[in-house]
This record gives sequence, C-alpha cells and structure tokens, in this order.
Amino acid sequence: MSDHKKEPRIKITHNGPYLVSGKVPLYEKIIVPVGKHYVLQDGRELPQSDVYALCRCGKSKNTPFCDGSHEKVGFVGEETASKTKYEDRADYMEGPGIDLLDDHRCALARFCHQEKGDAWELTARSDQDDCKKEAIQAACECPSGRLTAVEKTGARIEPTYEPSIEIIQDPEKGVSAGIFVKGNIPIESSDGETYEIRNRVALCRCGRSGNKPFCDVSHVSGRFKDKDKE
Ligand code: FES
Repeated sequence: MSDHKKEPRIKITHNGPYLVSGKVPLYEKIIVPVGKHYVLQDGRELPQSDVYALCRCGKSKNTPFCDGSHEKVGFVGEETASKTKYEDRADYMEGPGIDLLDDHRCALARFCHQEKGDAWELTARSDQDDCKKEAIQAACECPSGRLTAVEKTGARIEPTYEPSIEIIQDPEKGVSAGIFVKGNIPIESSDGETYEIRNRVALCRCGRSGNKPFCDVSHVSGRFKDKDKE
C-alpha cells in the first residue's frame, strides 16, 4: 500500500457509502445532558480496521457499516452542499471579548449550550471572563464546525484532535444522529473534488439530509434510528 493510502481519508461513493481508509479510529458516542450543557459519553465498542465502509443511506441492518442495502433501496445520495470555503459562507458576529464565525451548518449536537447561555449570548457578553471562556468552549465543542471562536487578533481557536470518526446516538431526542469527523480528515466527493479540509465536520448517515454529505438534522424529523437501537 502506498503512503498516500495510509493517510486518513474519506471517499464518498456515488449513491453509496463513505469509504474510510488510513486506519481511522471509530467510536460510538452518546450525547448526554449535564446541567445546562452536554457531553459525549462512550457508547458500544465498534470494530476497528484499516479500511471500512460507513452507511450513508440510513438503511443498513449492520450500522454503522454499509451492508449493500443502498442498492436495494435505490439510494440517491447526490451531494448538494456548497464547496465554498467556510470563511466565505460564515456570518461574523463581533463580541466585546471574542468574535464568532457561524456558517449555520447545524447537526443539533447542542454543545453550543453552556451553563451561562448559548454561544451567541456568551459572545455578546464576552467582556466578562467567565462568559468569554464559555463562548470559546461552546464554539470549540461544536462538532459540525458550524461555530468558530475568533480572538481579537484574528486568530481562530481550534481544539486539537487526532483523526477519528464518531458515530452518534442521541437518546434525549430518541434518535440516532450523524457522524462526527474530527482531526482534518480529507473528504473526497464522489465527483473527485475534495471538500475544504476541516478539523470538525458532521456527515449525514440517515440518508435524508438536504445538504449532503453534511448533516442538516434531518435525522430528527425522520426519526432515524440504528437497527440495534429500535
Ligand atoms: S450506504 Fe450501503 S447500506 Fe447504506
């Protein structure tokens, strides 16, 4: 195998699964409320391998892996998301102590909610140290990468992540949720173009997103649940 093949990478197949290569660790995580904020707890252990195919259509009976069901159901997985850069898509909110970029790509992970308010309220009150700290945390913990805290120097604040993939369960909403991709893993479109490489993105795995390949919270309205969680 060439070195290129050993690098973490996600290849989106035409009307099919996400092909993951480069020995990317795979976890199941559960969104759990703690006070007024949320944490990710470990879920069941998932098999690890150098390469694997993750279901994108939402119909696999062996989630999170593809079992070929996409062909039987005639899955149409057309990618509709913009490939323009985050900073060109994002709104810029100025706060007194910290600023906030927001591209509105929400995965309903709810980590923007902290003890003293949400990311926008906290940014507006970021002249107070405790609010500024929570505003940064709210942005950094946003797994879809929707929110980014920006220092007054212009420096963007990013958590440090090793490449990993997290399959999300959301029992509070009674659904299975998207795929959190962490650590700057390149994602190649089925047309061969690579999306902007980002430290945090959330991919759709219910097959219903209107902004494929990214999660747009359709798993909630679609009451998506992994087969083993039904
Ligand atoms: S993408 Fe293959 S079973 Fe869902």
